[in-house]
Amino acid sequence: MSVYQAYLKQGVNYKTSAIKLQVQKTGLENNLLAPITLRLNPIKQTNRMQQTMKIAIISGSHRNNSQSMKVAQHIESTLQKDICDETWLYSLAANPLPLWDEGVWDGEQHWQDLLNPIREQLQSCDALVVITPEWHGQVPAGLKNFFLLFGKNELAHKPALIVSVSAGDGGAYPVAELRMSSYKNSRLCYIPEQVIIRHVESVLNDNPDDNDSRSDPWIRERLQWSLNILAQYGTALKTVRDSGVTETDKFGNGM
Ligand SMILES: Cc1cc2nc3c(=O)[nH]c(=O)nc-3n(C[C@H](O)[C@H](O)[C@H](O)COP(=O)(O)O)c2cc1C
Repeated sequence: MSVYQAYLKQGVNYKTSAIKLQVQKTGLENNLLAPITLRLNPIKQTNRMQQTMKIAIISGSHRNNSQSMKVAQHIESTLQKDICDETWLYSLAANPLPLWDEGVWDGEQHWQDLLNPIREQLQSCDALVVITPEWHGQVPAGLKNFFLLFGKNELAHKPALIVSVSAGDGGAYPVAELRMSSYKNSRLCYIPEQVIIRHVESVLNDNPDDNDSRSDPWIRERLQWSLNILAQYGTALKTVRDSGVTETDKFGNGM
């Protein structure tokens, strides 16, 4: 087994050139035990090389001045405080994306003009927060349309946190719907955590007088906890994508 193979076996994906350099430095180039002796240094360098973290926030309500957007803005500021380096908030208010048609697959110019800037934003993200209101017990049609327009090229093997929003006691149905029907071909990875914000009008308001004093701090804390977990999944799943094992010309869609 070569030095490089030994490193890979220990889970350290490291460039051959860097390993060779280290072997020469220690004078252990002919020693078969070198991989064990050298283990500490690459781990230190991996930490130093840690990537920046960008998280996309999709606000799935078509309504202007929606509660979903209020939640999205709170999540954006929470993420920006100390969880990630960059955020991108995209709102579906007023239906900025037409319903999918075959022009998307045909690469029609008007679709490219509309979609390419959004594709670039999504591609550069490490993780997503998908915020969905419950509308008649469902995910809004515009959010399902979003998952027709963007797929594996932008989302595959990236973690996502579902946050659902209800003015009343709802919020469970859209979580179940997203988990069942928006990940197969996109290969988006919904993390086990989710946040259901019930009675949304009484939490996360700027004016403390508008907030329920019991549920507001609890929801804020729950969101922060879940977002921290999401960011760690973002780091972890990047190594999965970077490993190359997910690339395939054969299995274009999930089963
Ligand atoms: C078309 C429509 C259908 C709705 N259906 C439900 C529902 O089934 N269950 C529920 O808890 N709330 C329902 N609501 C109320 C939402 O929970 C409420 O509007 C909440 O603020 C979240 O949506 P928003 O982000 O668009 O504001 C509905 C709202 C709309 C506009």
